[in-house]
Amino acid sequence: MNFEFTEEQLMIRDAARDFAQRDLIKDVIERDAGSIYPTEHVKKLAELGFLGMLVDPAYDGGGMDTVSYVLAMEEISKVDASVSVIMSVNNSLVCYGLQEFGSEDQKNKYLRPLAKGDKIGAFLLSEPEAGSDATSQRTTAEDKGDHYLLNGTKNWITNGNTAGTYLVIAQTHPEKKHKGINCLIVDRNSPGISVGPHEDKMGMRSSDTHSVMFNDVIVPKENRIGEDGFGFTFAMKTLEGGRIGIASQALGLASGALERAVKYAKERKAFGTELSNHQAIAFKLADMAVKIENARNLCLKAAWLKDQHKPYGIASSMAKYYAAEIAMEVTTQAVQIHGGYGYVKEYHVERLMREAKLTQIYEGTSEIQQIVISRDLLK
Ligand code: CAA
Repeated sequence: MNFEFTEEQLMIRDAARDFAQRDLIKDVIERDAGSIYPTEHVKKLAELGFLGMLVDPAYDGGGMDTVSYVLAMEEISKVDASVSVIMSVNNSLVCYGLQEFGSEDQKNKYLRPLAKGDKIGAFLLSEPEAGSDATSQRTTAEDKGDHYLLNGTKNWITNGNTAGTYLVIAQTHPEKKHKGINCLIVDRNSPGISVGPHEDKMGMRSSDTHSVMFNDVIVPKENRIGEDGFGFTFAMKTLEGGRIGIASQALGLASGALERAVKYAKERKAFGTELSNHQAIAFKLADMAVKIENARNLCLKAAWLKDQHKPYGIASSMAKYYAAEIAMEVTTQAVQIHGGYGYVKEYHVERLMREAKLTQIYEGTSEIQQIVISRDLLK
């Protein structure tokens, strides 16, 4: 086993770290308070090649590997998970889905602008009554011969308003249940699309989360990804990669919180000495570090398997499950170590704790990951 990173992987990690520590940190508290979309920072993500980092250079992508993606996601998430979720959805759900399963025409028309960051993508699976239970799609894509007629509502859509390209999961043949589902590439400007108000969230407040409504939206037949009925498998396959992104985000939230807790424990004095000299604090820091290292190894293992073209679905669910759980624990302990200061915005850790909560919920709750892992064990 080789645990060393290549020079290129380290350069990518350092570029992400510089961007996060120099640019993102400056106004992250204000953006969180006001739910302000990070327009300039998303442009910078595009300049760095991070919006299409996993895409083949033949389609204008960065051609970077998944291990580098984990490293970059960790660094950005240490400072601002609202920015890293925009990056994660564009890379792992939208670009990956198109690159892996799209036709040549679809890649040329839709993947290239997404990989360059000229457009942002969104992945529209969740519905008011189909979040975890993804087979129960109520959005319909009626087959009208040369086009589909799309009707329904999608919920909690990251990049819902800013995206130029939507990948929409919808039911075409209800009698076939999940085998009747399709994924359609939908232009955001198509007539009949409306977007609900920005969701006022507990965390990741500056990412762009909306409901999206489709009312008799005409989608050309050539915009269907794969064979008729491939949509559910498409969603499941794509989410396997997406979970590596969110696992790395959770990892970054935890490691960002630990860095802040270590700094604070070395500076702050209580009972005549630095907090770090009290075992009650030092032992907490040790526990946090061990959990983070475990989560990092799970993320990197899943990424490595994906890069080697080996099955990685169970590894990505394990990484997502564990990293999200420990992100919640570690960020909560970081608040505890900061005492009263941890509860105010200036010290950042309360925000990291709020953001960590979402990693246990989206792209498959912790319970969904437990289902995926246990079914594999018990099959
Ligand atoms: N790869 C390929 N096929 C798969 C698969 C995978 N990873 N997982 C399941 N399938 C196939 C199964 O083989 C089965 O096919 P067959 O009938 O042909 O055998 C079919 O899909 C149905 O599978 P199940 O019977 O296992 O389906 P289920 O209803 O019991 O549940 C589930 C499966 C794993 C729970 C799934 O519904 C799931 O992952 N749910 C969570 C969805 C999710 O992650 N939502 C998040 C929304 S995206 C988001 O959050 C983005 C964002 O904006 C941040």
